[in-house]
Amino acid sequence: MALALRARTFDRLLYPVHRWVWADERRRAEKLLTFAETERDGGRDLSRAAERTRDPLLRRLYLRHSLDEQRHAGLFLARGLAILAELGGASPAATFQASAFAPGERGLDDLRVDEVADDSLLAFLHLSEKAAAQRFIIYREVLSADAATRDVFGDVLADEAFHMNYTYAQLRRVAPRRYGLRLWAARLSRLWKGYLRLATAIGSMMGRVVLTVQYFVILPPFALLAKRAARRLPAGWTPGHRPSPLESQY
Ligand SMILES: [Fe+2]
Ligand SMILES: [Fe+2]
Repeated sequence: MALALRARTFDRLLYPVHRWVWADERRRAEKLLTFAETERDGGRDLSRAAERTRDPLLRRLYLRHSLDEQRHAGLFLARGLAILAELGGASPAATFQASAFAPGERGLDDLRVDEVADDSLLAFLHLSEKAAAQRFIIYREVLSADAATRDVFGDVLADEAFHMNYTYAQLRRVAPRRYGLRLWAARLSRLWKGYLRLATAIGSMMGRVVLTVQYFVILPPFALLAKRAARRLPAGWTPGHRPSPLESQY
C-alpha cells in the first residue's frame, strides 16, 4: 500500500521564500550542485548498508536505492552545470543558499551505517526520504519557469516516493511490533540534528555580526590614535637610543 504524499503545511507557508530562493539562476545552479553531492553521499552510505545487512531482500533494495541516489546525483550535477554554462560558464560565486529553508535530500545525515540495526536504519531512511519528497513537490512547483530543472525534480520525486514507501514497508516487516517506537526514535534524532544545524547557523551568524561591529566600532578609535601618534614622530630615519658598540658587546 503506497503512502499518501503531499507537501507539508510548513513548506506551503514558506512558499514565497522557496520561490525567492529558486528564482536566482546562480543560486539555483549552486543549490543543484550541493544537492548532487548529498545524493552521492547518500548513495555511498546505502551501498555500505547493502554490504553489511544480513537480509537478502534488504540488500537488493539498498542496492537499488543506492543506484537511484547515484542517478539523482548525476541529474542534479548535469542540470547545475548546464545553468552555469548558460550564465557564461563562470565558476559559481558564493551566494546565500538558504539551506535552512530549502535543503536537499539529507540522506542518512551522518548516521553511522555500521553502528545501527536494520530497523533503526529503515526508520531513519523513511523519514528522510519522506521529508525530501515533500520538499521536492514544492521545488517542482516554484520552478514552473524553468522546465528543465522542474523535470529533474519531477523525475527524482518518483524515486523518492518509492524510497519512502519501501522503507516503511520493510520497517514493518523487520520490526512488526517495534516499528512505531523506531520511527519515534528516528524522529527525535532528526529533531536533535535539526536543532544542532540551527544552533550552528545562529552561532555563525552571531560571530559575523560581532566581528562586523568590532571592525566598525572598536577598531576606528585605535586607527585614529595610531595615526595621531605617527604624526608626532619625526620624518625619516632617526638613530635610536641603543648603546654604542663601544659600551656593549652587541
Ligand atoms: Fe535522491
Ligand atoms: Fe532518496
